[in-house]
Amino acid sequence: MTDASLLSAKHLLLGLTGGVAAYKAAELARLLTNDGMEVQAVMTEAACRFVGTATLQALTGKHVFTDLWDASVANSMAHINLSRNVDVILVAPASADFIAKLANGFADDLLSTLCLARDCPLLIAPAMNRQMWESSATQRNLDTLRRDGVTILNPANGTQACGESGMGRMLEAFELVETVHAFFQPKLLKGKRLLVTAGPTYEAIDAVRGITNLSSGKMGYAVVRAAVEAGAEVTLISGPVCLETPAVVKFVNVVSAEDMFAAVKNEISSIDIFISVAAVADYRAISTSKQKTKKTGSSITLEFTPNPDILEYVANLANPPFCVGFAAETENLEANAEAKRRKKKLPLLAANLAQEAIGSDENALVLFDSEGERHLLKAPKIEQARLLIKHIASLCAKLRNL
Ligand code: C5P
Repeated sequence: MTDASLLSAKHLLLGLTGGVAAYKAAELARLLTNDGMEVQAVMTEAACRFVGTATLQALTGKHVFTDLWDASVANSMAHINLSRNVDVILVAPASADFIAKLANGFADDLLSTLCLARDCPLLIAPAMNRQMWESSATQRNLDTLRRDGVTILNPANGTQACGESGMGRMLEAFELVETVHAFFQPKLLKGKRLLVTAGPTYEAIDAVRGITNLSSGKMGYAVVRAAVEAGAEVTLISGPVCLETPAVVKFVNVVSAEDMFAAVKNEISSIDIFISVAAVADYRAISTSKQKTKKTGSSITLEFTPNPDILEYVANLANPPFCVGFAAETENLEANAEAKRRKKKLPLLAANLAQEAIGSDENALVLFDSEGERHLLKAPKIEQARLLIKHIASLCAKLRNL
């Protein structure tokens, strides 16, 4: 199953309230509809001053409701009917005024009434001027909503439509789409503690030179995101990458393979699943210099010593967690990957062709386990990661039943 098909059967009610960020909601409606979701837009009167109902109607392919007394819904009960059979309500943008209404249970227009008369989760994406966001009244209302089980998709920091700069900018449409995707992921790893290594390691030779493996860290970070979405408590140990730190329970930055090994030993004792995505350098220089080595014009020889194999160490502990390895191969993918899985005693190894995977946003993993191999179709790394997490969860469940 692809990730998109997971969304295709879902119904989302998209509420728009009055704010300049309503223009982003139009793009959001387009992206969600493209993903196959049934999107029903409901706009407040103030929202209609920022974008037209015709825009939302064209993007969702559905009549847009604005009025509590809209006669086109059976029995004129729009306030109840529209929130029936809805999987989630997302209010984006959610103005300070609308948040205040929600927090106090007011139901004086269609959208606030629907939010009150619902039995599905409610997500809100606030958008407002920074002082309105920081005001104690807004923060008090947000606390109330959090306690009521509403998910707040916190705004970002940045330049605002009013010309000021600070917290209050609504998240971008693509970020909200990612949140909706995450929301619908099955919580297959709820309560599981995961340790993931990602990125390359860098082995210094002198103050400004070193050796490393090519690795963007994108696959490892995608695995982390998919694991968090699946409800796992994730610790990430990362080599040097240019990626935003994901929302994990613990994040440890390392540089060399020896640093990564020490960090893994520190964290491993309470871990259920260890996923070693890092491209760990196999060798490090025997002698290194704290200063920059001067060039002489003659050839030099560097001597390297093997680094510890972190994954092999973990997989061979007396009571190891469920261990997942990664292998980037340039040739003979199947034979090399399966040989690696057996040598390191891994229940599961994910392999890919280095020339296709490194730095790319897409990948085509092949999963090797004791039952054989499984080829995943080329897809964005986050989708590959979600399928990998699903496979890990099913193998772990099988092991528990043995
Ligand atoms: O480098 P190699 O292809 O052997 O990597 C296979 C797996 O072993 C990967 O999951 C990698 O993270 C892990 N590994 C490790 N320590 C090393 C080398 C590889 O943990 N020194």
